Amino acid sequence: MTRTIWFLTGNAGKLKEAANHLEPLGYSVKHLNLEEGMITEPQVDTLEEVARAKINQALEHLPDGGNTQDMVLVEDAGLFVNALNGFPGVYSSYVLDTLGCSGILRLLEHLNSEDTVQCAQLRAAEFQAVAALWMNGEILFGNGSCPGWIALQSSEGEGFGFDPIFTPSDLDDLGKPLPPGQYGVKSTHGNTFGAIPMEEKQAYSHRSRALDDLLRQLPSA
Ligand code: IMP
Repeated sequence: MTRTIWFLTGNAGKLKEAANHLEPLGYSVKHLNLEEGMITEPQVDTLEEVARAKINQALEHLPDGGNTQDMVLVEDAGLFVNALNGFPGVYSSYVLDTLGCSGILRLLEHLNSEDTVQCAQLRAAEFQAVAALWMNGEILFGNGSCPGWIALQSSEGEGFGFDPIFTPSDLDDLGKPLPPGQYGVKSTHGNTFGAIPMEEKQAYSHRSRALDDLLRQLPSA
């Protein structure tokens, strides 16, 4: 039997990525899209606390009260820039709305080098994600991260949020990220998430890794 996962998100990009990841595994991903103001994002210190608060709010808004087999997914992510001591981190949404990608580029303007490896190290950053899944009255958490660096300029293309300015680290033959700027068997060749197709982003993405971490804890669909 196909089990429904209600994904609470207002972000069409996240929904597409999660459906792409979970539907081939036999889950039906449905959009729980609540109007602005129905869900409040608490200003707390960790992504896990944000995700837990959102799950509790989502449960109050399941269509028809939800089928007992249904699950509820929320996912919370943030961009953590090393040179800014992890900023914007849990404030990523607010910072994207206020400073935008261009504001992050301005904050890092002084960090540059002709040596590409050194440049990537100076501008090192990481996306982190926590995926929380409610099932049978319990909440499971999955964690994922994606190291990389902030590009020198914004790129055009697909993607959302900070995608146009974030270049993921290359991966080794086991899919493990390498230190910023090092060449690996899987590489975006210095391109940002915004400049590659969504299907390719999945191999690197913090979201895919958080969902995989969750799936490892689940019975098969
Ligand atoms: P959220 O609170 O999980 O929605 O994410 C915090 C902020 O980070 C939002 O502004 C998102 O647009 C941004 N963000 C989350 N995940 C990604 C990603 O995969 N790429 C680019 N930006 C992202």
